[in-house]
Amino acid sequence: MNPSQSARSTERAGQRVCVFSDHHQACAAAADWIALSVRENTERRGRAVLGLATGATPLPVYSRLIELHRLGRFSTEHVSTYNLDEYYPISPLDPLSYRAYMHLNLFQHLDLPANRTHLLDGTTPEEFVDDHCKQYDRWIEAEGGLDLQLLGIGRNGHIGFNEPTDLGEPRAMALPTRRIPLHPTTRQDAVREFGSIDQVPTHALTLGIQPILAARSILILAFGSSKREAVQAALTGPATSRVPASLLRHSAERVVWMIDDSCAEGWCD
Ligand code: PGA
Repeated sequence: MNPSQSARSTERAGQRVCVFSDHHQACAAAADWIALSVRENTERRGRAVLGLATGATPLPVYSRLIELHRLGRFSTEHVSTYNLDEYYPISPLDPLSYRAYMHLNLFQHLDLPANRTHLLDGTTPEEFVDDHCKQYDRWIEAEGGLDLQLLGIGRNGHIGFNEPTDLGEPRAMALPTRRIPLHPTTRQDAVREFGSIDQVPTHALTLGIQPILAARSILILAFGSSKREAVQAALTGPATSRVPASLLRHSAERVVWMIDDSCAEGWCD
């Protein structure tokens, strides 16, 4: 699929940026892109490995994938999924866990074998967290790597829960999957789900920058004025661990941004 058929396509920091008039169009194009990746990789190597995201942004993408599945145009029979992140600690049975989100909004509606949906486990005892995260990276490698990583972006420029840091670029790019303290902006944004700041977990488990950058294709979505500053910084500012999404330019030829007019206003018109 060529997303530029329904969008303005441009380039920033070596990455393709598709600007859609509204986010529904962008999400439909993103779902088509994912479905095509699954078809091509299944034909090529007998399976497809998807890195998936949570939050408000990808919800219309998942609705469209479910619709494609019902129409007989999208099968996940040979797909494995690895989610980007999970709160810590949290039970998978907690309705606010990302495991519950994925079950509710995607997994239960597809022909996806339950033992091929992977999320970091928010119940892992603290002393085993490092091993668990290392193992998650090894599982992905053992699957032959991620064919496609779907991403959103935080208002502070985070990808997954890789929050802004002062690390030098090489060290930031090598960050593995790990437990992190959540940034105050991220916790504030999570109040809409958790109800109050005291209820928002202080920590999370996140896929590292390194495995994200290693994906064979990266699709990042950002919609609305609240993401404008972060996206502009990621695409027009310097590459810095203070804006983790700006590090995507190190995989530039494999990255596609899908954004809407509201996000692009004033810097990518
Ligand atoms: P959102 O979160 O989709 O809920 O805006 C995106 C993110 O924080 O990565």
